[in-house]
Amino acid sequence: MTEVCFTLNGAPVTLAAPPTTTLLDWLRETRRLTGTKEGCNEGDCGACTVMVTDANGTRALNACILFLPQLAGKAVRTVEGVAAPDGRLHPVQQAMIDHHGSQCGFCTPGIVMSLAVAHLQGRRDHDDVLAGNLCRCTGYAPIIRAAEAAAAAPVPDWMDDRAHVAATAQTADALADWYVANADATLIAGATDVGLWVTKGLRDLSPVAFIAGIEELRRIEVGAEEIRIGACATLAELHRAVAPLHPDFGELLRRYGSEQVRAAATVGGNIANGSPIGDSPPPLIALGATLHLRRGATRRSLPLEDFFLDYGRQDRAPGEFVEAVSFPRQADRLRVYKLSKRFDQDISAVCGALNVVVSDGNVQAARIAFGGMAGIPKRAAHVEAALIGQPWTPATVAAALPAFAQDFNPLSDMRASAGYRLTAARNMLRRYFHEDQGTPARVLAVAP
Ligand SMILES: Cc1cc2nc3c(=O)[nH]c(=O)nc-3n(C[C@H](O)[C@H](O)[C@H](O)COP(=O)(O)OP(=O)(O)OC[C@H]3O[C@@H](n4cnc5c(N)ncnc54)[C@H](O)[C@@H]3O)c2cc1C
Ligand code: FES
Ligand code: FES
Repeated sequence: MTEVCFTLNGAPVTLAAPPTTTLLDWLRETRRLTGTKEGCNEGDCGACTVMVTDANGTRALNACILFLPQLAGKAVRTVEGVAAPDGRLHPVQQAMIDHHGSQCGFCTPGIVMSLAVAHLQGRRDHDDVLAGNLCRCTGYAPIIRAAEAAAAAPVPDWMDDRAHVAATAQTADALADWYVANADATLIAGATDVGLWVTKGLRDLSPVAFIAGIEELRRIEVGAEEIRIGACATLAELHRAVAPLHPDFGELLRRYGSEQVRAAATVGGNIANGSPIGDSPPPLIALGATLHLRRGATRRSLPLEDFFLDYGRQDRAPGEFVEAVSFPRQADRLRVYKLSKRFDQDISAVCGALNVVVSDGNVQAARIAFGGMAGIPKRAAHVEAALIGQPWTPATVAAALPAFAQDFNPLSDMRASAGYRLTAARNMLRRYFHEDQGTPARVLAVAP
């Protein structure tokens, strides 16, 4: 049992529960707050969206993959807590009624919560805000109309939870000592992978350590020479930091999961899980990233691509954790192409990140990495070698294409066949070249 204190709809709560109890189960089964719905129970549908406020601000999160200890010191608001204490509706609730934004209503509490958080943050990018909220029957047009209608209304004062946030003391040093002594423990950062091990895999994970609250592991430093990203920085925070420097990396992250997933998932988790289809490793590798690991007082660094040894196997010793990842400041030559069946909220079939530096018409340097093309995120070493030192021309690109078969022997699975993956990866290099020559290639931004 773990004791946790937080506030729920403005009222303090102290509870003791097994550490991998989800907020959704607790709300519905213990508190009978059944406005928060269970749809998929794996972070995909947004029916369970709640609002969480801590020292870093307010976020919409999926309660189904949020463990109670992750809430320590925070303020949680559910759909039962968005109307005024005297019953007046929140502007978003009123607009949903006025604009007919609900039919069966199952998705509606989650949509109201996502929109209430966006309203509080002053955001108007409602398509992005709602990409993680599935509505089967209303259709999004009335929902977006409701969001737009509510946007100008002031934020109700009862929605401000900042006064309820309490400080929590956790340090990387304490984690390092504890993890050496408990090397078989499961580290839980954003729980967007681990949450599913519990809700879908029904696994018992004890002992566990919740690390997302360690502020020193969350820092992002944008220096003159390098960018250093703490392992516990969320994908949303990474997005804000890299989008101005490498807009294509930003676009990739805009399509990573959903608002709720990006607000929870961490950079360290996306690397440490070793997934061959994790979206952040290919662009980080293409930018020349270095991974920083720590075990007790011992630190070491290695090129990010060397961390991924084989499918399911990483260069990480027992008791060692990811502390940060860094990459050098550089002129932006990075392009990232995420190929998936849906634009939003979908895992990549192929994710290509290409960074080719051309000087005096010749390829001076090339770093190219792919996800979905092997059992690990992997550099295209032969393709790079076929480009470096050659004139940057269609002939050079054509001559490099066969090298893809030397670098990759992809799998066929339900996302794509091996042949499709290889062809798509080759076409990404061709697309990079053509875009670099000024040929528009964005299917979502067709020139008028
Ligand atoms: C609905 C949904 C959509 C998704 N969409 C995408 C997507 O578009 N692209 C994509 O790449 N992924 C996606 N994911 C997968 C998931 O979001 C990522 O893999 C995520 O980055 C994991 O980070 P986390 O902080 O949530 O990790 P957790 O679930 O907390 O942990 C994952 C693993 O990493 C370990 N770990 C975490 N932090 C550290 C650390 N600092 N040091 C050592 N080990 C650590 C944990 O022990 C665990 O083994 C999606 C997941 C969901 C549920
Ligand atoms: S129940 Fe679907 S995202 Fe939580
Ligand atoms: S109103 Fe029925 S799912 Fe959205």
